[in-house]
Amino acid sequence: MKVNDILKIEDITVEFILDSGNLRALNKVSLDVKQGEIIGLVGESGSGKTTLTSSILNIVSRPGKIMNGEIWYGNKNILELDINRLNQFRWKEVSMVFQAAQNAMNPILTIQDHFIETVAAHEKNYSEEEVANKAAKLLGYVRLNPERVLKSYPHELSGGMRQRAIIALSLITDPKILILDEPTTALDVITQAYIFEILKELHKKLNLTMIMSTHDVSVVGSMADRIAVMYAGEIVEITDVFTIFNNPHHPYTRGLIMATPSLTDDLNNRKAIKGNPPNLMELPKGCNFAPRCEYCIAKCLDTKPEATMINENHMVRCHNYEEVIARGHITKS
Ligand SMILES: Nc1ncnc2c1ncn2[C@@H]1O[C@H](COP(=O)(O)OP(=O)(O)O)[C@@H](O)[C@H]1O
Ligand SMILES: [Mg+2]
Repeated sequence: MKVNDILKIEDITVEFILDSGNLRALNKVSLDVKQGEIIGLVGESGSGKTTLTSSILNIVSRPGKIMNGEIWYGNKNILELDINRLNQFRWKEVSMVFQAAQNAMNPILTIQDHFIETVAAHEKNYSEEEVANKAAKLLGYVRLNPERVLKSYPHELSGGMRQRAIIALSLITDPKILILDEPTTALDVITQAYIFEILKELHKKLNLTMIMSTHDVSVVGSMADRIAVMYAGEIVEITDVFTIFNNPHHPYTRGLIMATPSLTDDLNNRKAIKGNPPNLMELPKGCNFAPRCEYCIAKCLDTKPEATMINENHMVRCHNYEEVIARGHITKS
């Protein structure tokens, strides 16, 4: 673990145990997270984003099971914590905003009650008044009017307001790491942009480390320091955001960027990636992306590509990445 790493995910494999067999949703995923950085996890639906983010808190939902791997936070392997210590760890060290959380609030509790219940479950020493004061401060950070919002029930707020309230709620226990699983997917584009602006402010103000997943690479471009691209349960490329957008080495990354509307002035140049992600129960013998890949060579059909380090900060899993580079930088024409 490097000095400035706050979290080290090592070789995590998760399988869903199904009647029809084991479905491997994550295959030996490793990821080092640096203190204070923002990591974007990008991949199509089904690529393993939720499985990975929930593995970090050891809360993969049944019938999913972490089969292998370690998750190091300082000198603690999170996967070995007993339930009490894990509960401490969740919220106080790492907090998570779940996918579509804004639609899963308790309808009979006010926003203030949500804060009080959350704190009561994790810290015994706060009075309700102290919690309300701290909640008001955090609601201000997410640009909500505390007086109005604390008294409201979830249904009295818009989806975007509820999502901002949940982000504030996730910070009430002063976590060091905030994980957000598709935090803006259900929201309109303007609200998305607004929430990203707020998250950027929070990141700075609270010195947070953030891991944020999305199926839309364009939305994290303005936000993340590094982007990890996931495909069929693996990270196929990871590097800094500039390189991901301007000089991607994996054909899938290149495809995602080419399909991003905001980067090409001429909509006719937009090109969706052909085909669909593979069935995880019937993965191809070679590279998982080979059946969809325009750079596919013979080797790709029979050998899975290992991780290649282009430099210390750039990993790619592709036999033919040199050809991707040779095709040239992506022009924003
Ligand atoms: N409860 C489940 N039962 C069976 N398979 C699941 C379950 N949850 C997820 N999976 C499988 O695991 C893979 C990864 O899912 P997930 O992590 O939710 O992807 P993402 O968040 O990127 O959309 C998917 O292909 C899906 O088929
Ligand atoms: Mg998901």
